[in-house]
Amino acid sequence: MKSIKTASSSVLFGAESYRKLAETLTDKNYSLIIVFVDENTHENCLPYFMGNLEGEFPIEIVEIESGEINKTLETCSGVWEALSELGVDRKSAMINLGGGVITDMGGFIASCFKRGIDFYNIPTTLLSMVDASVGGKTGVDLGMLKNQIGVIVEPEFVIVDQAYLATLDKRQLKSGFAEMLKHGLISDKDYWKQLKDSFNSTSIDEAISTSVQIKADVVQKDPRENSLRKILNFGHTLGHAIESYFLSLGEDKMLLHGEAIAIGMIMEAYLSTIYTGLSSDELDEISSTLLNHYGKVNISNQDKKEAIALLKFDKKNSHGQIKYVLLERIGKAVFDIQIKDNDLNDAFEYYNSL
Ligand SMILES: NC(=O)c1ccc[n+]([C@@H]2O[C@H](COP(=O)([O-])OP(=O)(O)OC[C@H]3O[C@@H](n4cnc5c(N)ncnc54)[C@H](O)[C@@H]3O)[C@@H](O)[C@H]2O)c1
Ligand SMILES: [Zn+2]
Repeated sequence: MKSIKTASSSVLFGAESYRKLAETLTDKNYSLIIVFVDENTHENCLPYFMGNLEGEFPIEIVEIESGEINKTLETCSGVWEALSELGVDRKSAMINLGGGVITDMGGFIASCFKRGIDFYNIPTTLLSMVDASVGGKTGVDLGMLKNQIGVIVEPEFVIVDQAYLATLDKRQLKSGFAEMLKHGLISDKDYWKQLKDSFNSTSIDEAISTSVQIKADVVQKDPRENSLRKILNFGHTLGHAIESYFLSLGEDKMLLHGEAIAIGMIMEAYLSTIYTGLSSDELDEISSTLLNHYGKVNISNQDKKEAIALLKFDKKNSHGQIKYVLLERIGKAVFDIQIKDNDLNDAFEYYNSL
């Protein structure tokens, strides 16, 4: 069975990993196992999961309504009450079966309940396979501000099984693909080249494990994001502000995480040409690739102002200063770069001019 180590956990690949899960659940003799789902993963993923898990276990299903809009403390409160009513104790465990909303929130719920119970992540979207379920960042949004409340705590292990992707719609698949492109941009030019023209034909299986390996290597070196781990936030300073702003406009205007990050990567690549020497050829290559996959979003002057106002809440800030991750070249990122307001404005202008 293929597996990749992270800081204090591991990611197991493929159908065989369910045997390892069954053995672990048996060894740990949990008093109760909560499988945490949303309505879509309940319908599309739970039957397959249960079919693969051999053995008799005390399982209860807890379901929440899907969507980023529900990634809140209120939802957590409801789930904590449900866990309490079901009799979950410190010898119980949670299995988070879903996309990044389920794994981010499930990890947070588990790590706070009775000061922490074991949890396992089984990502069912491309985005959660290559990114959200790996590395231990858990949490919820605060109002429209993304991921402001949370803890870093790794699951017992993660199972990546791409069979779940069969029911995922194309827009969601592409959202995850943005994080894979990011992995190439920050640390592996060959991987970027291999991915950029071939969303359909790349062997997705192999690419998923390359992405997990890139993320795991970074997380192992700096699990608490004191330094190097910041590079995983390329595209996310502006991307999160744009995502938060569009989230505040309601569900029909909302951008998917990867869609917002794609915009953030274009703008931050532009800033990289000013601050860290990214060549204009590479900027063109990045912009045209991302536009080709994600199209263009109309960002008005008002949208820009409101998104920029949200930057002060970015989690990489310290002492009131906003810090960016930029590229020296494709495959090499640097972090903690400060940007002048004028240049920020120009980054939005650059995106609008494409
Ligand atoms: N913790 C981290 O390091 C990290 C990294 C990146 C992103 N994130 C977070 O991840 C979240 C986004 O994750 P996401 O894109 O997976 O979103 P998501 O969990 O909202 O899933 C997207 C949609 O797909 C549905 N779905 C999930 N699996 C399915 C399947 N197999 N078949 C059919 N439908 C399915 C879900 O119900 C949902 O409607 C954001 O909240 C983001 O902040 C976290
Ligand atoms: Zn992301």
